[in-house]
Amino acid sequence: MQPGAPSPSPQPVRLDRTIALVGLMGAGKSSVGRRLAERLGVPFRDADDEIVIAAGRSIADIFAERGEEEFRAGERRVIARMLNDPPHVLATGGGAFMNPLTRLVMRDRAITVWLRADIETLMKRVSRRDDRPLLKAADPRAVMEKLMAERYPVYAEADLVVDSLDGPHTQTVDAIIKALEERA
Ligand code: S3P
Repeated sequence: MQPGAPSPSPQPVRLDRTIALVGLMGAGKSSVGRRLAERLGVPFRDADDEIVIAAGRSIADIFAERGEEEFRAGERRVIARMLNDPPHVLATGGGAFMNPLTRLVMRDRAITVWLRADIETLMKRVSRRDDRPLLKAADPRAVMEKLMAERYPVYAEADLVVDSLDGPHTQTVDAIIKALEERA
């Protein structure tokens, strides 16, 4: 392209599938997802919120009263159900894609996007909320580092990988839209 020539106008992204965001706690799945949905003109939904509604209790209470295994089973059911709905942007909890059955259904029915973030960005963002049961630990940073080591190789199986930078969320939204356009 000639320098100064107008760049070709991007193809508008037309969604034929739900975009499912995966990534660690603090990666920005909900905040980026909400803005992405607005830009694409589709609904935004959050799997954790739907699990809370379905169970009639908070995630912390589900973990405390029923245990993580039961939470994962509920998470799998809820996500499978949501992926039958018309295309939308779906934020999933950080552990969802780690469950082989949940991952299978997500890879089958959605465009999966891993929001990859570094430890500093994650820790800065999770410090704003203290309701995540996995981080109620003496050393939350060590927990996060362990989760990164375990989960990043699996998150890498997502269809698209986009860096979630410690800047305005619109930057990450732009990067996702670009990745979707390049994929089309
Ligand atoms: C979890 C992440 C949380 C929530 C639950 C477990 C995880 O969601 O699903 O606390 O295993 O990483 P967010 O990633 O939206 O914080």
